[in-house]
Amino acid sequence: MKKTITGFSKFSKQEKIDWIVNTFFDDSKVAKETLSQYWNSNQVLQDLHDDFIENTISNFYLPYGVAPNFVINNREYAVPMVVEESSVVAAASLVAKFWSTRGGFKATVLSTTKIGQVHFMFDGGVEELKDYFETTKSSLIAATDSITKNMRTRGGGILDIELRNKTSELDNYFQLHVTFETKDSMGANFINSCLEAIADEFRRDDIQIVMSILSNYVPDCVVRAEVSCPVEKLYQENAVMYAQKFKQAVDIANVEPHRAVTHNKGIMNGIDAVVLATGNDFRAIESGAHAYALKSGSYKSLTNCEIENGIFKFWIEIPLALGTVGGLTGIHPLAKLSLEMLGNPSAKELMEIIAVAGLAQNFAALRALTTTGIQHGHMKMHLSNIIKQLDASEEEKTYLLNYFENKQVSHSAVVATYEKMKKK
Ligand code: HMG
Repeated sequence: MKKTITGFSKFSKQEKIDWIVNTFFDDSKVAKETLSQYWNSNQVLQDLHDDFIENTISNFYLPYGVAPNFVINNREYAVPMVVEESSVVAAASLVAKFWSTRGGFKATVLSTTKIGQVHFMFDGGVEELKDYFETTKSSLIAATDSITKNMRTRGGGILDIELRNKTSELDNYFQLHVTFETKDSMGANFINSCLEAIADEFRRDDIQIVMSILSNYVPDCVVRAEVSCPVEKLYQENAVMYAQKFKQAVDIANVEPHRAVTHNKGIMNGIDAVVLATGNDFRAIESGAHAYALKSGSYKSLTNCEIENGIFKFWIEIPLALGTVGGLTGIHPLAKLSLEMLGNPSAKELMEIIAVAGLAQNFAALRALTTTGIQHGHMKMHLSNIIKQLDASEEEKTYLLNYFENKQVSHSAVVATYEKMKKK
């Protein structure tokens, strides 16, 4: 049977489902049932979701959790998190509570500049190109007037346009490197529209425009979040030794890329979860964060740790191009709800909250890794999940939790113990 098709996009939703289930599944009825199980009974909501992307045939649910007790710049937050990995929300909650009694998190936005580029080829004289750029620069900006009008009234817009000579890296390659302030929007559509207008204005017979597009590498749209406290307040026993181990774990991630990638993955567990919950673009955040981790030329930790004069300090610096208006933020009901839960923050405040979520997550993972090991907490969460699936009473739950305190947790072991207990 032929498994390719022309005109699929023109099919109705029902026709798309029929073609997919009949073409790719042995049991089309079961496949159809699985897809339809996840449709929303509220048709208005379903239509809204159908329209987010193309060829929608169902909804793919992820859990929406919440980590309470975050204190950030002396303000209390419950942070919404969308993530499929168990123990992420528990870890964030644990760390939020821990630091809430030690002064909380401090966060500051260092800069908010976004970047876009018009990439072009030119094989004439460089001086002539420079002259042409200087004489047209004001008309390049003027060409975007109608697009930037509203943004300018909000205090944003185009900050500068620079001509960059990249011919040492690629023959004939130049750029117009454009910087933007996009206030509370992430600004992707705004930036791309401006760039296309600039490119049209700049175009000449001997200038071959290759493409005009924003950059998701935003090393000047950076936020810093930090926690600190006296070392002896960090652990109940052997605080100095454990604080040193914690710092060594960060130091290792700063010199060993294999470790740094996993270390930063742990940070992104927290960051992506809040980025998703607030309807922001996690792919843009991910690619920008990892490029930033490589800014020195070797891939390093996004967090740092210092112990000086008995004070433990742990911080993150990360580029986050986020929006609290535009995109999904205003149309996905749960994204709107998340923003309301966070007190309808500005984009800058959201940068602070999300950087804190990343720092908290990294703190949890490193503290577990350098003390009990990561599996202890994971297995505890895993055990609770397995017990939840059993129809266990409170008394039975307590028995199982105690029984597995120092034993290897697996689904079959928990079920077997539960059944044995029931027989008794
Ligand atoms: P615990 O101390 O055993 O928890 O920690 P507890 O039962 O004593 O509860 C204390 C608090 O933890 C609770 O306070 C909650 O805040 C939170 P309360 O609400 O009772 O006032 N908490 C929970 N919140 C929601 N649901 C739960 C729950 N349990 C505790 N079920 C915990 C247990 C798992 C939190 C701890 O062991 C931990 O933080 N472990 C680290 C887990 C972690 O970092 N997971 C992230 C994914 S793994 C990862 O990041 C990849 C990695 O490779 C990255 C890297 O290498 O760097 C590791």
